[in-house]
Amino acid sequence: MTWALLPAAGSGRRFGGEVPKQYLRAAGKPLIEHALDALLSHPGVAGVVVALSADDAHWPGWTRLHGKPVVACTGGGERADSVLAALHALPETIADGELLLVHDAARPNLRAGDIAKLIDAAGACADGAILAAPVRDTLKRAAADATIAATEPRDGLWRALTPQAFRRGLLRRALEGAKAAGIAVTDEAMAVERLGLRPLLVEGREDNLKVTTPADLALAEFLLARRA
Ligand code: C5P
Repeated sequence: MTWALLPAAGSGRRFGGEVPKQYLRAAGKPLIEHALDALLSHPGVAGVVVALSADDAHWPGWTRLHGKPVVACTGGGERADSVLAALHALPETIADGELLLVHDAARPNLRAGDIAKLIDAAGACADGAILAAPVRDTLKRAAADATIAATEPRDGLWRALTPQAFRRGLLRRALEGAKAAGIAVTDEAMAVERLGLRPLLVEGREDNLKVTTPADLALAEFLLARRA
């Protein structure tokens, strides 16, 4: 039984404004609702745990959507703390060997085909799998004075997307290990890689974008409205 964890406890500082970005609206719904719809309308996903900030005034209090359970918990100071909190809030009936999907609340344009590809890949790889997209731009390393210090070869470089899929026991071990070592991980795969494991890269859609800036929100609006 695959559950999803949805870290949604960020303040959205980089976006600015009063409303945390996961509650900004695009195509008639908050981004977090698009993310929940994508996960829970998929037949392979049995339920979702959402990690919310302690002072969240926007959460509508859902306990079921698409006929499936939605469990809310309080997240933490960093994204990884929020994912750990969500892991602890999972129903006890979810065994250590069950697959979990971790998805950003601010990624509203996740498609069923990508969820299916990821679940298939992670089911066949003990180290888990993540959606990712190859880097398309030329990459420059900046010097302190904003001149170009180097051009980095982009061959073999990928952008990590979400969902990222790992077995429950492995994900807990990886995140607790990184935390104990004082290492700030920016995605789940990074914590798993620290254990010497090699999660699979699964090529996902480039339009599964994370909303970080007003320009991203405009693009999300366009993509979601076109689907409606
Ligand atoms: O800040 P960033 O865009 O990397 O956040 C990705 C996701 O992680 C967002 O859905 C955000 O709400 C969540 N997050 C969280 N707890 C934090 C920081 C971010 O759940 N402390």
